[in-house]
Amino acid sequence: MSTQKVLLLEAIHPVAKEQLEKQGFEVERMTSSLSDSELISKLKGFDAVGIRSKTQLTQAVLAESSHLSAVGCFCIGTNQVDLEAANSLGIPVFNAPYSNTRSVAELVISEIIALSRGLFDRSAAAHKGDWMKTASGSHEIRGKTLGLVGYGHIGSQVSVLAEGMGMKVLFYDVIKKLPMGNAQSIETLEELLSQSDFVSLHVPETPETKNMISKQQLMHMKEGGFLINASRGTVVVIEHLVEALKSGHVGGAAVDVFPEEPKNNQEAFHSPLQGLANVILTPHIGGSTEEAQYSIGLEVAESLTRYLSQGSTGGSVNFPQVDLPTLQQGRRLINVHKNVPGVLGKINGIVSSAGVNILAQSLATDAAIGYLVMDMQSSDAKKVFEDIADLETSIKTRQLNS
Ligand code: NAI
Repeated sequence: MSTQKVLLLEAIHPVAKEQLEKQGFEVERMTSSLSDSELISKLKGFDAVGIRSKTQLTQAVLAESSHLSAVGCFCIGTNQVDLEAANSLGIPVFNAPYSNTRSVAELVISEIIALSRGLFDRSAAAHKGDWMKTASGSHEIRGKTLGLVGYGHIGSQVSVLAEGMGMKVLFYDVIKKLPMGNAQSIETLEELLSQSDFVSLHVPETPETKNMISKQQLMHMKEGGFLINASRGTVVVIEHLVEALKSGHVGGAAVDVFPEEPKNNQEAFHSPLQGLANVILTPHIGGSTEEAQYSIGLEVAESLTRYLSQGSTGGSVNFPQVDLPTLQQGRRLINVHKNVPGVLGKINGIVSSAGVNILAQSLATDAAIGYLVMDMQSSDAKKVFEDIADLETSIKTRQLNS
């Protein structure tokens, strides 16, 4: 089999190139993104592509690049790829949703202390020559209660770190979650809000979480309590938070995500939260650390390797999920096909009439496609592969050897 080639665009962390090369792939790493036409022409020489957020893999670009085996998004979001088009062309798309978990958790911990000590306002004053030395209104966080809304990857990490600093941790989640350490699950959001000195939001953006924290919920918070939002901008009604901050009911806030955010560093940022006392505003940097970039490089390189070398689609955002053991003997056929009745019968017919023994077979489907992986005991299954690839229902067929 010839060496598979991977193109990495947009200055993806060099660890991805190292990792892929270690696994025997040929890798070209570029620091820029490419325009549609440049991309179409460049991709002709590659089996897979790694991108970040600038490269647009539109339906038109994908249709011209249908030979691609896989796409790796070395980031969290996948909006820049037409996932449906990729699916129907038999191209799985991978991303790294959890590589920056720890970075967000650490930012939140730093903000808990910063809010509790009015750190940002005092620092800004000192920069201007004002000396704001007083203990009044400043508190240790030891012994205080942190309420986490959403106890998934990030929420549970914050939980562990906060307990390490002597905080009492409560959490509210719609799914039953195993508490870390001594954290305590709370039945309702209102109860959690009313018991917490700090409330930190870690829910995803869903119709249920849109405007989840509005006037009513803010009023349930303790007088002078603090709110931290590093989840999604739509979760909090900003105008209501502004009112609660101005009235002093909420003692301070740290906000990293906004309903509307500048698209790039050149665009100006506007928010009704600007200029309010003890409000920390950060430009959606919760997950932006060099360590997170490194982890993303590793995670996506591993997902691409598992797919290109083994056929495993685990972690893909647009493909039926099949996780497979390493191929020990024989040949592995990978076939993406249209999800219509009778496909499996035809494929099995081809295999059995060729007298080839099947060692293992995995099939997963979604509404549009079926993903079949079949390990066969045969030194030469060329004809079988060709016949299956030629089926009218086949979208993509490839072969891996042990
Ligand atoms: P996750 O999926 O691991 O956890 C989310 C948790 O929220 C789950 O346990 C889920 O059951 C729970 N949940 C869902 N709906 C809920 C509801 N209505 N009420 C209570 N709980 C609910 O997600 P993860 O990785 O912890 O991310 C959390 C948030 O952080 C997401 O919105 C994500 O987009 C955001 N994020 C922000 C970053 C930043 O740079 N500020 C970076 C990374 C993630």
